[in-house]
Amino acid sequence: MIRPLNIAVFGSGRGSNFQAVLSAIQQGRIPNADVRVVVSNNSSAGILAIARANGIPAEHISEKKFPTPEAFTEHLLATLRLYDVNFILLAGYMKRVPVRIISEYRNRIINIHPALLPKFGGQGMYGMRVHEAVVAAREHFSGATVHIVDEEYDRGKIIVQKKVAVAPDDTAESLAAKVLAIEHELYPEAVRMFAVGGVLLDEVVE
Ligand code: GRF
Repeated sequence: MIRPLNIAVFGSGRGSNFQAVLSAIQQGRIPNADVRVVVSNNSSAGILAIARANGIPAEHISEKKFPTPEAFTEHLLATLRLYDVNFILLAGYMKRVPVRIISEYRNRIINIHPALLPKFGGQGMYGMRVHEAVVAAREHFSGATVHIVDEEYDRGKIIVQKKVAVAPDDTAESLAAKVLAIEHELYPEAVRMFAVGGVLLDEVVE
C-alpha cells in the first residue's frame, strides 16, 4: 500500500505552480494526493488566495511574528502535524526551510527551479535573475528542474527536468514565459510520480 501524499505547499507569490498541481489533483490526474494546507510568509500572496478560493486551509506564517527562529520553526512543525502533512511542495517559496524541517521531512520536500540545474541555481538565482543569466550566457536550452530540498540551496537530488529551446531573440521575459509553461506541466508530473510510488522516498539519496 502506498501511503497517500498529504501535501503542504509553501509559497510566497502568485502561486501558478500550486494552481497547476491543484488542478491536476482535482481533475484526477494525480491520484492518491491531497493538499492539506498552504503556507506563506506573505499575507498578500496570491497563493493564499488560491487556497482560500478552493477551501484549502491558508496559513500566513512569518518568521517576523515570532520572538526567535526556534519558535517560528516550532509553530511551522506544529502546523504540519496538525494537518497530518507527510510531503511538502515548495512553489515559489522565497525563504529558507528551517533545517529541522528538512531533516524531519528528509526526501519529502521538493522544489521547482526555473532552469536546468545544476546550472543557474544557488543563492541569489531566483525569479528574472535566472532567465537574465541564461540569456546573457547565450544558452541554447533552458528549462525547469524538480529536485529534493536538502540543506544546500538548489543542490538536492534531481527528480525530473524538462527542456525548452532558447531562441536567439528571446529576452529574459519571453524566456520566463516559456519556462513557466513548462513548469506547469512538470510539477504536476513530478508530484504524480511521488504519489504513485514512482520515486522510492527512502532511496532518493544515494
Ligand atoms: C517559479 O518560476 C518557480 O520555478 C520558482 O518560483 C516561481 C514561482 O511562480 N521557484 P508561481 O508562484 O508558482 O507562479
